[in-house]
Amino acid sequence: MSTAAANPIAAFFASVWLQILTVWHTGLMFIPWVRPHWGLNDMADQRGRVIVITGGNSGTGYATALAYYSRGARVLILCRSAERAAKAIADLKRGGVANVLSEMEYTPVNEERVGTLEHIPCDLADLHSVDEAARMIAERVDRVDVLFANAGVMGMNGRTKQGYPLQFGTNVLGHQRLMAHLLPLLRTPRPRPARIISLASATHIQAPPGGIDYAGLDSGADRNVWLEYSESKWAIIALAKYVHAHYGPTCKDGVCSVPAPGEIISIAVHPGLVSTNLFMHLQTAKWLSYTFTWLLKLVLCTATIGSLNQIWAAEVADPIARELSGGYVWCFQERGRERVDLEAEAGTAAGETVWAWCEAQAARHE
Ligand SMILES: NC(=O)c1ccc[n+]([C@@H]2O[C@H](COP(=O)([O-])OP(=O)(O)OC[C@H]3O[C@@H](n4cnc5c(N)ncnc54)[C@H](OP(=O)(O)O)[C@@H]3O)[C@@H](O)[C@H]2O)c1
Repeated sequence: MSTAAANPIAAFFASVWLQILTVWHTGLMFIPWVRPHWGLNDMADQRGRVIVITGGNSGTGYATALAYYSRGARVLILCRSAERAAKAIADLKRGGVANVLSEMEYTPVNEERVGTLEHIPCDLADLHSVDEAARMIAERVDRVDVLFANAGVMGMNGRTKQGYPLQFGTNVLGHQRLMAHLLPLLRTPRPRPARIISLASATHIQAPPGGIDYAGLDSGADRNVWLEYSESKWAIIALAKYVHAHYGPTCKDGVCSVPAPGEIISIAVHPGLVSTNLFMHLQTAKWLSYTFTWLLKLVLCTATIGSLNQIWAAEVADPIARELSGGYVWCFQERGRERVDLEAEAGTAAGETVWAWCEAQAARHE
């Protein structure tokens, strides 16, 4: 047992220290020394690669799609709205750089270098829609190189099609189902291991004790939306740990540098505090974005900067990525610290529990 776990005072100070570190690494733009130290200029040619992005029509997902498309990848955008997907694809083809705090700016893409963009209809808040999306992906491609489990909702009430609380259902259940379906396509033979990059958040440290209130999820009662968002992001880190534990890098005869067949590198990331549509359904944020645009620009980073953590996690050299697998990246491009109940064996156990719970829910709605 660790000293902190044995001694409540040590545990209290360890928790306060984690909160301070977390705020430090959230990616607040007014902290001048917390800046990205990796950029898109460092990104390799992506021709021949297959990239799947949930929520690739908006925010960090859109910026990720632009980075891969403009470097030659085949990009599959999972989006629940045909109209929003078509608009995003049209903007991506024109090199539109998204920013909710100003008009979209267009930087023409190099036509000779670009890849392809496809829309896969997918509503993560409906398990059957996720099944159908996975089926369509399997019909179109024979492997996936990177899955960005990027989409998410925050601060919203409501229920999914199968009756689960909206945030947990979308952010966790929908993504777990997609990951489970895509495992075979992520494990087909290839020179470099595939990666799953999952969008977590620094707010995961505010999740309820134990991470997930399963009874609350099942109760059908209204829940505290902020607590549930944190809970969903805690769960996303746990799922990333599950994938790592089952399919992640392993050492054979003491050698850890040779990827095993079917290996998947699984990394959870916090993107920073990013000005995106995630906040725009909140009346206060909407009002602030109109009246105090300058203030938000000072505090929040753009979607382009906010996408760098996830693209870096997907692109950093294999030996580093293999070291990061099962871990959590915070701002910027640094191995972060998860809440203590997601560290080491506790994290692996959390991954098993969350994955099994999601599988059990999916089985109820086959
Ligand atoms: N922005 C931040 O400061 C911040 C901080 C920490 C973590 N994150 C995480 O980063 C990720 C990306 O968010 P963002 O900031 O880029 O926000 P965003 O611009 O609102 O993007 C969220 C994406 O998720 C999609 N989505 C929502 N519900 C969906 C559903 N039921 N089925 C399919 N797609 C759905 C949205 O599609 P629609 O366009 O159809 O709504 C949109 O494409 C999220 O997981 C978020 O929790 C963001």
